[in-house]
Amino acid sequence: MATLTTTDLAYLMCINPSCRATFDVGTTNFRCLECGSLLDVCYEWDRLPVPKSLVEFERKWTRRFDSIGFSGVWRFHELLPFAPPERIISIGEGQTLLQPSERVANFVGMHPGNLFLQYEGLNPSGSFKDNGMTAAFTHANMVGATRAACASTGNTSASLAVYCSAHTGMKAIIFIGSGKIAYGKLAQALDHGALTLQIAGDFDDAMLRVQEVAPRLGIYLVNSVNAFRLEGQKTIMFRVLEGLGWQVPDWVVVPGGNLGNSSAFGKAFIELKELGLIDRLPRLAVINAAGANTLYSLYEERGVRWNGGHHDGPTVDGFYQEMSSNNRRASTIASAIEINRPVNLTKCLRALDACDGVVREVFDQETLDAKAQIGAGGLGCEPASAASVAGAKLLREQGVIAPSDRVVCVLTGHQLKDPNITVAYHSGNRELFEEVLAKRNVRRASFANRPVQVANDLHEIESAIQINS
Ligand code: F0G
Repeated sequence: MATLTTTDLAYLMCINPSCRATFDVGTTNFRCLECGSLLDVCYEWDRLPVPKSLVEFERKWTRRFDSIGFSGVWRFHELLPFAPPERIISIGEGQTLLQPSERVANFVGMHPGNLFLQYEGLNPSGSFKDNGMTAAFTHANMVGATRAACASTGNTSASLAVYCSAHTGMKAIIFIGSGKIAYGKLAQALDHGALTLQIAGDFDDAMLRVQEVAPRLGIYLVNSVNAFRLEGQKTIMFRVLEGLGWQVPDWVVVPGGNLGNSSAFGKAFIELKELGLIDRLPRLAVINAAGANTLYSLYEERGVRWNGGHHDGPTVDGFYQEMSSNNRRASTIASAIEINRPVNLTKCLRALDACDGVVREVFDQETLDAKAQIGAGGLGCEPASAASVAGAKLLREQGVIAPSDRVVCVLTGHQLKDPNITVAYHSGNRELFEEVLAKRNVRRASFANRPVQVANDLHEIESAIQINS
């Protein structure tokens, strides 16, 4: 791949405070070549035209005819200025909105008007991933990549496939755990022409492999270990602030899988504070599925903290070794977050540190009940997304979140990504319930909206309506 030329005011820097090696933005190594830690995209802010106030971004809404104003990511270009505008690749991602939900507020136990849902399912590929993919693709374009790869639980691969098919110069190569992704997502990868490798293993296996293979074959890697992707995902929080009239919420609650979002959100708030654009940081709650709870185990049970970048490595390594020797595999109905070895663990610890964070685990039962309430409230999300609402409810019950707090739950992916689970929950079909849900320890469909079986008979149809409505 060609070495590039771009703004001299952006660079990559190792997040390890004992290293801090820096690299040109033209690199496609996403780990530090000196010490192997993760990298950040950094900027020489004092030499860049940063707006004096976040309100200035509202003007971009009136410039929707230009490609930067058209994108809900790139209209915040000044806050992720690593690419020259002419290299930006956008498909109009990030047109998402913060929406208050009375019904979900009630379910969670919040005062009406205090619970907001940031619905990222409205993105072109149906999940938040497009926010990051446009940024990774823009970087891939800057370095002249022709093939891009990811490991995925389904949404990253769907997003990659969409961007590749929209920009036919690039070939998508995706690594998925065989049988481990929801059909809606697999359908997207296949339909958009991605080379789909179903690896005999799970996401964690696929993630290790893609990191081995990509550098060997010179393929551009778009997993969230790619620091440019996280730059795009910062904008989810910019839109949250915008939705609140540029006020900082008390809490941001997000599901945690590979921990890219939580890491990006932390970076966004740290930077905004440093730039004087906000006066305080929100608290961050990252929600694991109980069957994939590495972050919860390390942070809440073993007390692992960022600690200025010197986190307790031996405890983390010991945890992973134990996991390997017991061959413990992630297992949750929320397949998007069925991950035991999150690549962004250290960046997430940094975000939790900056945002006085907490981590919780929720059971699949709680997640699916929360999902049904979100659905009844008018927004459709996939199971992993509903973990945020289930987590907010738990934190309310524990008294960590107060009913008067302003809480934002991020709904990361669209309902139609994983219809099987939704149908199994609502349909009342015993066999389907056993097959899809009971196997995963989901015992009840507390908020099921059962379809009504009725004979093909005018009278019976009318009476079914009268009885049920
Ligand atoms: N929600 C959804 C719908 C996801 O697809 C993912 C991750 C997450 C939450 C977790 O976000 O990794 O930033 O902590 N999906 C990845 C994928 C792993 O391959 O699609 P995270």
